[in-house]
Amino acid sequence: MDLLERLQWRYATKKMNGTQVPQEKIDRILEAARLAPTSSGLQPYEIFVVTNQEIKEKIKPVAWDQEQITDCSHLLVFAAWDNYTEERINHMFDLTNEIRGFKNEGWENYRQMLLSSYPQRTPEENFIHTSKQAYIGFSAAITAAAFEEVDATPMEGFDPAAVDEILQLKEKNLKSVLLLPLGYRDAENDWLEPLTKIRKSKEAFITEIK
Ligand SMILES: Cc1cc2nc3c(=O)[nH]c(=O)nc-3n(C[C@H](O)[C@H](O)[C@H](O)COP(=O)(O)O)c2cc1C
Repeated sequence: MDLLERLQWRYATKKMNGTQVPQEKIDRILEAARLAPTSSGLQPYEIFVVTNQEIKEKIKPVAWDQEQITDCSHLLVFAAWDNYTEERINHMFDLTNEIRGFKNEGWENYRQMLLSSYPQRTPEENFIHTSKQAYIGFSAAITAAAFEEVDATPMEGFDPAAVDEILQLKEKNLKSVLLLPLGYRDAENDWLEPLTKIRKSKEAFITEIK
C-alpha cells in the first residue's frame, strides 16, 4: 500500500482487539511526532505513553467511557506547556546553539523578540498556541500509525483536568490536550469499520488560485 492507500485504510477505530503493537512500530510513530514541525521550533508539548492497564482503567471513565482507552496497546497522551516562560524559550534556543555549535545573530534577535512577547501574554493565550502545536505532532503520529498499519483513534473526548490529575501533569506545568490509543481493530465488532469514509469533494475542499 502506498501512503494514500494507507490513509484510506485508516479510520477512527471504535473497537480494538487488545493485541500488542510491536515496540519498533510504536517507536517510529513517536519519532514521527518528534520530527513534526512546531512554531519557532519550540516543541511546546510532550507525549506520555501509557501501557499501565490500571492507569488506562482510571482514564477510561473520564474519557466518555471509550473502550479503546483500555483495549488499546499503547495510549498516547499529548500534553502541552501550560504557558511560555523565559526558561522554556531559552532552553530551546540554547539547545539549538549547542547542537549546531555556533550562535547566529539573526536567531539571537529572534530569541529576544519571542522573549519580549510570549511570556507577557496570558497563560490562556499561550496555552491555545502550545496546544495547536500538539495537534501538529498528533497528526504526524496518526499518519505514521497508518503507514505502520497500526490502528488509532484520535480523541478530544475526555476531561483534560481529570487526566491531568491522574498523570500529575500540573506538577510538570503541562495540560493534556489529546489522546491517541494505538492498537489493532476488532473489525467484526466495530460498527464503523465497514462504512465508507466520508470526505468533502476535492472541488469543495480545494480552490486553485492561478
Ligand atoms: C481532534 C480529533 C478529536 C476526535 N475525538 C474523537 C473522540 O473522542 N472519539 C472518537 O471516537 N473519535 C474522535 N475523533 C474521530 C473523528 O470523528 C474522525 O476522525 C472523523 O469523523 C473522520 O473519520 P475517520 O478518522 O474515520 O476518517 C476525533 C478526531 C479528531 C481529529
